[in-house]
Amino acid sequence: MARIPENIVEQIYNAIDIVEVISDYLPLKKKGANFWALSPFANEKTPSFAVNPVKGIYKDFSSGRGGNAVNFLMELEGFTYVEALRHLAQKYGIEIAEEEESPEQRQAKDKRQSLFIVNEFAARWFQEQLKETEEGKRIGLSYFKERGLLDHTIEKFQLGYSPEAWEAFAHAASKKQYKEEYLTELGLVSKSEKTGKLYDRFRERVMFPICNPMGKVVGFGGRILGKRKDVGKYINSPESPIYHKSQVLYGMHLAKKAIRDQDVCILTEGYMDVILLHQNGVENTVASSGTALTVEQVRLIRRFTKNVLMIYDGDPAGIKAAMRGIDILIKEDMQAKVLILPDKHDPDSYIRAYGAQGFRDTMEKEALSFVDFKMRVLAEGKNVNDPEVQAGIIKGVAETLAFIPDLIQRQMYIRSVAQRVDITEALMTHAVDEARKEVGKFEAREKRREEAQKKREAPAEVKELKSFEQLELAKQEAELLRVMVNHFDKTFPEEEGPAEDEEGNPIEYEHIFLMDYLMDELEDLTFENQTYEKLKNELFKEFDEKETINLHQYLNHPDVSITRLISTLLTSPDTSPFWKKVRADISFDGNIKKVVQGAVYHYKSRKVEQLIQQCKNQLKEAQENRNEEALDKLLTQSMLLIEMRKEIHQKLGTEGAIRGTDARL
Ligand code: UTP
Ligand code: MN
Repeated sequence: MARIPENIVEQIYNAIDIVEVISDYLPLKKKGANFWALSPFANEKTPSFAVNPVKGIYKDFSSGRGGNAVNFLMELEGFTYVEALRHLAQKYGIEIAEEEESPEQRQAKDKRQSLFIVNEFAARWFQEQLKETEEGKRIGLSYFKERGLLDHTIEKFQLGYSPEAWEAFAHAASKKQYKEEYLTELGLVSKSEKTGKLYDRFRERVMFPICNPMGKVVGFGGRILGKRKDVGKYINSPESPIYHKSQVLYGMHLAKKAIRDQDVCILTEGYMDVILLHQNGVENTVASSGTALTVEQVRLIRRFTKNVLMIYDGDPAGIKAAMRGIDILIKEDMQAKVLILPDKHDPDSYIRAYGAQGFRDTMEKEALSFVDFKMRVLAEGKNVNDPEVQAGIIKGVAETLAFIPDLIQRQMYIRSVAQRVDITEALMTHAVDEARKEVGKFEAREKRREEAQKKREAPAEVKELKSFEQLELAKQEAELLRVMVNHFDKTFPEEEGPAEDEEGNPIEYEHIFLMDYLMDELEDLTFENQTYEKLKNELFKEFDEKETINLHQYLNHPDVSITRLISTLLTSPDTSPFWKKVRADISFDGNIKKVVQGAVYHYKSRKVEQLIQQCKNQLKEAQENRNEEALDKLLTQSMLLIEMRKEIHQKLGTEGAIRGTDARL
């Protein structure tokens, strides 16, 4: 998607009222300075989701997520950054005039936009045919009614009808002067080789518009009426610049909210299944529309939930599809369950036969974990006492378990399966290891992806396991960063002295920025925590260049751990009394200098202890190795450190309280 110009982004940000944005999704209650709600990212009873209207940020303490309104929409709606901005622009009536683009970009974008417009027109035209023409009502509408669809469902899914004619749509479209190229590329019409005339591809079919997750029509499925065998049951739109079958799930635009709310996605095979389930209140349903489930589709689901329940027909094709689907889901670190409906039912026919409650009951009682499902399928119609059959089952299950990316989870499954089939855990582990060799190549790729993901997502502290001392240091680093992001624009007098000169005139002392002071004091120190260090350096660099800091930039940082860190720093989680006081004092504009100095030296005193300890260890090593040169260097270094320690304690006024007695190392 095209870039949004900087000034428009600015305009959007200025318009945002985060409380308003989030209130579209959650009921917010004001308590103190913040608004609170139950976390949409967790199942909880007491609210841990906070919104700070003044800073324009939210923090979800249950999941660690946080950021500004744009981040919120990205997390919740699964929007990309640009999609979120567009959504907000629309909400606030801001027009997005596009930035200058290359002619090719412009053309590609214009084309995509035109294709959407044409599809939108087609969808409306098919709807009109269904509802407003005699033929449409007699054939199309009565078909939908027969299948139990209510008017509002037909409306909601924008269902339509293509008449029994060769040029009805082609005429309507050419009247609107849509480009022939677009019409053919979207597969709405074809060009006759003989006559060169355009004719309709969808004829005498009920029409199902297929939408992207934003709800824009990207293609169509057209179902033949009755049971004619001479033509395909469905005709579908071809791939086009706006329709990539492997990336679309039918019904996602209507299901995503329910999927997130219920934290599970029901995956069916057909258009009708989705529509009937939605009509019966099971709105967390989408369909892969007959194609095999793809990785892209799974990733689309993963924006909203990690849990998938596949409901497929019990015929061999359905079972095969489920088996394949499981492996793809498991590889993508999803939780998979399968429900096979009895008696050749598909979800549509089942819910019509047994009603919404009957369907829900069955779903609850009969859904199988992927392991159970696989074992059942592999054992189906076989003598499970036959060792060869048993080996086959074990091997088959092992093949799927081998795909589980997480080692601990994998081992848990191995253990439970081993118990169930009554073999040792070691043997089952072996079977899985064997299977893993086969997927080795895949795994390597997967691992890289996973690691990159973890790096992006893991809270900074978890990334490297640290000693207690290091963690304490990291906490102080976070507090120093908190001071920076909240007070970078504060200043204080560089020197202290009497307020007035001898004649009683006030003395003007030169002020420096708090940030400049921190830069002087901390620039040479490396923060323990990588993310903290990275943020520190970026803040210093930006302030050095611009004498200000644009926080929005960090809230949209490509490194998610920085985004999360910033949003934590901008809110106020619990911390030690010392730091609470520091924060309160700075906010009250008390003696900022003294407070900040205190904070810095507090940190430095810990840091110097750590460095002294490191130096000690190295000294010991050097002594053991009789490395004279190193010994010499280290001794000098330790003298400097001791000197530093003394200085720090002087500044802190704790000279007498040097920790331990080991002042000579
Ligand atoms: P089904 O044959 O189960 O169709 O195919 P259905 O949607 O349940 O339709 P009804 O109940 O007979 O009316 C499942 C899905 O596979 C795709 C469609 O997306 C369909 O919804 N399909 C099927 C095709 O694309 N082409 C076909 O010829 C058949
Ligand atoms: Mn069906």
